[in-house]
This record gives sequence, C-alpha cells and structure tokens, in this order.
Amino acid sequence: APLIITIDGPSASGKTSVARRVAERLGIPYVSSGLLYRAVALLGLREGASPEEIEAHLERHHLELRPTPKENRVYLDGEEVSAALHSLEVDRRVSAVAQRPSVRAYVNQVLRQIPPPFVVDGRDMGSVVFPQARHKFYLTAQPEVRARRRVSEREADFRTILGDILRRDAADQKQSAPAPDAVVLDTSRLGLEEVVEAVLEHLRD
Ligand code: C5P
Repeated sequence: APLIITIDGPSASGKTSVARRVAERLGIPYVSSGLLYRAVALLGLREGASPEEIEAHLERHHLELRPTPKENRVYLDGEEVSAALHSLEVDRRVSAVAQRPSVRAYVNQVLRQIPPPFVVDGRDMGSVVFPQARHKFYLTAQPEVRARRRVSEREADFRTILGDILRRDAADQKQSAPAPDAVVLDTSRLGLEEVVEAVLEHLRD
C-alpha cells in the first residue's frame, strides 16, 4: 500500500511541526488538515455566515490545498489565504465550524484526493480519514506546555492563549480520540527534534 503516516493530537501539540520535519526527512510532502478547517472558518468570517450557514457557502466557493515538502498553501477561490489562517479570530471560530458533519465530509473528501505518499496531521487522520495508514502517531503535551509553545506565534499573552487552548480541547474532544493502533507520544519534556527522532525510530520497526 502507498505510504501514509498520520500524526494527530490536540492544538499546539506540535503535530504540524513534527509532520513537516518527518516529511522533510523522508523526502515526501506533508499535509496539515487543520488548514482546511481554518479556511472554511475564514470563509464564514468573510461571508458573515454562522457555522450553521456555512454549508451553503461551501457549495459556492472553491477551496484548494497544495502540499509541498516545505509548506502548505491554501487557496480560496484562487486567492492564496495561507497567511490569514492563524489569527485569533480563526482560532476562535474554527471548532464550531469543524463540528458540522457536512464540513467534515467536505474536508475529508478534499484530503482523500491527495495522492500518497504523504505525512498528514490533524485530529482524526488515523481514526477516521485514513484508517488504513501504515503508521499512526498521537502527540500529547500538558496544556501549559502547549500554551508556552504558542506564545511566540500569536498576538496574545500566555493566560489568554492557555484559556483558548483549554476551550478548543473541550470543543474538539469528539473528533480527537486517538486511533486504537496509534503510537502515543507525550512531548511535554521533548524538543521538536527529539519528537521527530522518536517518530522516525518507530518507522524503522
Ligand atoms: O490543527 P489545528 O489546530 O490547526 O486545527 C484547527 C481546528 O480545526 C481544530 O481546533 C479543530 O476544530 C479542527 N480540526 C478538526 N479535525 C482535524 C483537524 C483540525 O476538527 N483533523
């Protein structure tokens, strides 16, 4: 079977950084599924649509994810919106949008069209979208550790970021259960390269 590696975990668990580095080391693309949910949230914010109204908008707009080994670019109706996907506004809207079954079906269908090999990160990549994946990982870390990692990436202080992370953990709980066959790695005390090495080590087994 073609190579698919899934790396799931809660927000700011490091899954995207790890997926990117592992993919780089293997010389294959990585795919960050959260970007698609973020793009749907951005679409809703731009159109003034509530999460309940988003379905109708999805039918009228075109979303595209272009994975490369170095980065993922997201296009909304042909316009690159990658830089707008990590704002606090999108952070706060995305979970409600991701709860909608039609949004999940839409994102999953976009993901399943991407030709392997690739490393993909998200919440339910190993459990729902790619149950056949050859290798599955689930990264965890204490909320305080995750908030500290995020401080440099957001225009907000530690307390605000920690509060947002805890709220998003709760809101995303439903789709965030690890696949039963995933290797669970607690990264609280590990640096990025140590996590990458741990993942690569498992791939050799
Ligand atoms: O991975 P990231 O934190 O960028 O994902 C943003 C949001 O997208 C999550 O908080 C979650 O609501 C949603 N998401 C999801 N399933 C995925 C990936 C992301 O529900 N596989």
